[in-house]
Amino acid sequence: MGIISPSKYHSFYFHVKKLLRWMFFATVPLLLFRFYFYPHPILHSHPVHISSSVSPSTIEKEDANEPPCDYTNGRWVHDTNGPLYNGTTCGTIKEGQNCIRHGRPDLGFLYWRWRPEQCKLPRFEPNTFLQLLRNKHLAFVGDSMARNQLESLLCLLATASVPKLVHRDGENNKFRRWYFESYNTSISIYWSPFLVKGVEKSKSGPDHNELYLDHLDEKWAADMDGFQVIVLSIGHWFLHPAVYYEDGHVIGCHYCPGLNHTEIGFYDVLRKAFKTTLNTVIERVKTKRNGIDVILATFSPSHFEGEWDKFGACPKTEPYGKGEKSLEGMDAEMRQIGIEAMEAAKLNSYLHELRLEALDISKLSLMRPDGHPGPYMHPNPFANGITERVQNDCVHWCLPGPVDTWNQILLEVMKRWEYESRQEEN
Ligand SMILES: *[C@@H]1O[C@H](CO)[C@@H](O)[C@H](O)[C@H]1NC(C)=O
Ligand SMILES: *[C@@H]1O[C@H](CO)[C@@H](O)[C@H](O)[C@H]1NC(C)=O
Ligand SMILES: *[C@@H]1O[C@H](CO)[C@@H](O)[C@H](O)[C@H]1NC(C)=O
Repeated sequence: MGIISPSKYHSFYFHVKKLLRWMFFATVPLLLFRFYFYPHPILHSHPVHISSSVSPSTIEKEDANEPPCDYTNGRWVHDTNGPLYNGTTCGTIKEGQNCIRHGRPDLGFLYWRWRPEQCKLPRFEPNTFLQLLRNKHLAFVGDSMARNQLESLLCLLATASVPKLVHRDGENNKFRRWYFESYNTSISIYWSPFLVKGVEKSKSGPDHNELYLDHLDEKWAADMDGFQVIVLSIGHWFLHPAVYYEDGHVIGCHYCPGLNHTEIGFYDVLRKAFKTTLNTVIERVKTKRNGIDVILATFSPSHFEGEWDKFGACPKTEPYGKGEKSLEGMDAEMRQIGIEAMEAAKLNSYLHELRLEALDISKLSLMRPDGHPGPYMHPNPFANGITERVQNDCVHWCLPGPVDTWNQILLEVMKRWEYESRQEEN
């Protein structure tokens, strides 16, 4: 008859009481916690999420109320939501960055989100991203950090629409293209760690790269007319020994003992590589009048603490807190070079068809020493116990991981551009 017997009722009631008590003790700290991290609950508790069937007007409405956001400075706050995807659901994560599958035991690194100082950073919306890229080709051009960001983006987008690999070429699949049929969107990756013409670790001479600073690397530049959006991401390869050429002559080198060239470091070289790249894009847009958006991801700092093949090379399991770590030295200089290159290009161009933006991810990435694969670049590195010597990757980022935030910001940049171009039309 549906009547619960006294004993059953008792245990049920006991269960509810336990649950309520648990809820009380669980929610008090949660509220305190929320208050600590969200001092203005009215402003931040209900972020407006764009629905999956985003209409252009939704973008307009949301952005109209907010000034452009500076995503550069902020802090990492706990996020119980966790990532949009995981290593099981996404099939395009490179082995070395699939930390969970490789047995990384601490998963706390998945539960953080970037909170810019003066605004909010909405959760990634794959349908909005694809909507904005409809009938477009987005190319990532650069080194393995470009690949890291591309693979994050593919995973984020695959939660809404699964891409089809339509092209692959080169050793280690250095050139690949995916296609999202329902949006006519292409996303590709071009391996070009200097952007300019370069010979990696030339076989002929000693162990150094050769860079030709006044020539773009044709492996990507030849396809430029087919891109509507380009994400540039380079830096780490400039630290390697190299000989530099300009106008057909050696202009110097970086760490080339025995070669009798002048040591000129790599900062000016990076500057020149960006300049050659951006000037070529500007010229191309001027002559062809086809629109291109260029986004330059700033330098992504690494977090080695001591030798790279020693146990515990990047041992942190939590982000740095506010004020705990500042960007300095080489990391700061490399970032600055990217920022300045984009500012100079903006001043030089003023073309309606060319939009330029620095994706300033250096600081937010610096504050994530916990986001690297470390020893989990290889599967189950400690299956036979802890070893003193173990290879560590403290440069790239686990997926899911902090690099997902770069794409969150990329989406916000694209949304702002869309909003601005609509304003102009009106
Ligand atoms: C990954 O996501 C799938 C689908 O949401 C879920 O079933 C699975 O448990 C997740 N795996 C991990 C390791 O979180
Ligand atoms: C599909 O996208 C490409 C850019 O990748 C564009 O050139 C082409 O015009 C698009 N096709 C249609 C039918 O819009
Ligand atoms: C090194 O370069 C200088 C200037 O180009 C030249 O005078 C000198 O002979 C060179 N030394 C050697 C060992 O090649």
